[in-house]
Amino acid sequence: MIGRLNHLAIAVPDLAAATALYRDILGGNVSQPQPLPEHGVTVVFVELPNTKIELLEPLGENSSIAKFVENNPAGGMHHICYEVENIVAARDRLVEAGARVLGDGTPKTGAHGKPVLFLHPKDFCGTLVELEEV
Ligand code: CO
Repeated sequence: MIGRLNHLAIAVPDLAAATALYRDILGGNVSQPQPLPEHGVTVVFVELPNTKIELLEPLGENSSIAKFVENNPAGGMHHICYEVENIVAARDRLVEAGARVLGDGTPKTGAHGKPVLFLHPKDFCGTLVELEEV
């Protein structure tokens, strides 16, 4: 069911500093910052030949990643995103298997304008999993 690795996401306390690190020190190709208020994050993508790295900074009062960054003040691996062909079919299959989908289970529009869902880390080897329909 899962397809390609779409991206790995790293939550950071300072997106400008993380951008400078990935662009100037690692020599990566970093996109412009994109605020996603409905997800409580500002995001940039680092384009790699085989995947992307998503750098996330908390945005707003009720950011879903604020606590994570508080607990990981230097930043840390936040989630991994797999591509699926049909996100509703994937969700139904996972729910039937007993996995927990975060939120109300309705796909939201992610950073690429495609539907996304997040799966509970306790059900996936301690890793927050994002599914993106492609
Ligand atoms: Co993501």
